[in-house]
Amino acid sequence: MLIGLDIGTSSTKGVLIDDRGEMLASFTSEYRIDQPRVGWTEQDPAVWWNACVEVFRALAGRAGERSKIRAVGLSGQMHGSVFLDRAAVEGAGRGPVRAVRPALLWNDQRTAAQCAAIEEAMGGREALVRAVGNAALTGFTLPKLLWLRDHEPEHFARTALLLNPKDFARLCLTGEPAADVGDGAGTLLLDPTTRTWNDAVFARLNLDRSLVPERVLESAAVAGRVTAWAAAETGLPEGIPVVAGSGDNQCGAVGAGVVTSGMVLATLGTSGVIYAHADEPRRDLGGEEGGAAGRVHTMCAADGRDGAAGRWSITGVMLSAAGALHWARDTIAPGADFAELMREAEGIEPGCEGLVFLPYLTGERCPFPDPTARGAWIGLSSRHTRGHLIRAVLEGVTANMGIILGIVEALPVRVEKVRLGGGGNRSRLWRQMQADVYGKPVATLNAEEGPAFGAALLAGVGAGAWASVPEACAATIRETETIDPGPEAGRYASVRAGLAELYATLAPAFRRTA
Ligand code: XUL
Repeated sequence: MLIGLDIGTSSTKGVLIDDRGEMLASFTSEYRIDQPRVGWTEQDPAVWWNACVEVFRALAGRAGERSKIRAVGLSGQMHGSVFLDRAAVEGAGRGPVRAVRPALLWNDQRTAAQCAAIEEAMGGREALVRAVGNAALTGFTLPKLLWLRDHEPEHFARTALLLNPKDFARLCLTGEPAADVGDGAGTLLLDPTTRTWNDAVFARLNLDRSLVPERVLESAAVAGRVTAWAAAETGLPEGIPVVAGSGDNQCGAVGAGVVTSGMVLATLGTSGVIYAHADEPRRDLGGEEGGAAGRVHTMCAADGRDGAAGRWSITGVMLSAAGALHWARDTIAPGADFAELMREAEGIEPGCEGLVFLPYLTGERCPFPDPTARGAWIGLSSRHTRGHLIRAVLEGVTANMGIILGIVEALPVRVEKVRLGGGGNRSRLWRQMQADVYGKPVATLNAEEGPAFGAALLAGVGAGAWASVPEACAATIRETETIDPGPEAGRYASVRAGLAELYATLAPAFRRTA
């Protein structure tokens, strides 16, 4: 049996699977996000560890004989910054580990000044994208470290080690510091091409390289073993291997079998993610239409193991996807069920008779990195009904996802088929709309457990249950339905173009009203 955990933003979820990938049990432990100021988001790493302990105990209890648990894999929210002092690192694996201060999360917005400083130090945004695959976004890890140096110098002086969330949990389990190539690329400190820390970034920003773990591992490589103390805390067997794991997007891709060239995962949760597996570490150096470099992220995929490096991932994250539909329901049709709203939307022609919805309800990250962007229905007429309003939301979100996919294809990265994940794909209308907008066949899957399941598969590869990550995926994940682009597909091109044009026109107004 194998265990995979995903340390998310609102909960930690764990799954127990057998050696053929069958789900045996799952368990979730929830917690809050702390928002000490507007735009700040934090969590105390001790909260994650307590949740991990609860989930491990529940799953170990379900395993019957706990000695049957062979390995553990970890996934987690990316970019979060865990600051540890020397004593905490040295005591890890033998007792509770306390962080210097709460971790700053992936959606924290406080680091605009540090992002600008990073781009300047690296010789501009394009040079930064060439060095580390990504532009400096406020949510990434390196700006958080610089924020600590600028604003809490006493905490910075104490900090001996910077870890991402799942690496903190692994340190507690094994006592051994390590990073993985995927989450590592979300720090802005790693060169995804070489899959190692980029010394030039440390030098230009005057940072000590010992602030990050010396070991940067492929995701299915064994990073350490469960210590006696951690075994007593969690109910896991002492000495079983813990693999490096990866960020939630990378592990989600493994959990959906998106580990070979041509495959894309489109996830419609609260946020929306386009994740493409790539055979080359292609960078987004900006578009012909004037888009700035780094609109999509180039990181390492989680398909590597000990002795066999993996490939790459290209991701674009939009902030309000199925979240926009929930907002629309709660606002214009409180209490209505989604099936009813979807029926109304289905009766409307593609293009909504000229109505376009901008889905930027909480600002946007991709393809328009703009915290001041806002939502809007544009083109309203007295002919429009509730069905039009809802359909326009679905079309606006899907068009934005389609623009991201277009950026990925232009890198170029080959896109043959799109697998669907997240709650949004429960609607047949939304699945067909994705096929039409993406212009690719889309497929639903038997596996819906996401990153935790992917982390469990990585554990299985580390423990020798499967020879490689693609082999683990092929043995456990099947497509259940494929939908081809239909006769309406051509009608969405104008929706996509209309959305981009309206955003460009409205951006100055959004900035003024922000
Ligand atoms: C990825 C990202 C989010 C977090 C959410 O770049 O910021 O997907 O990982 O958990």
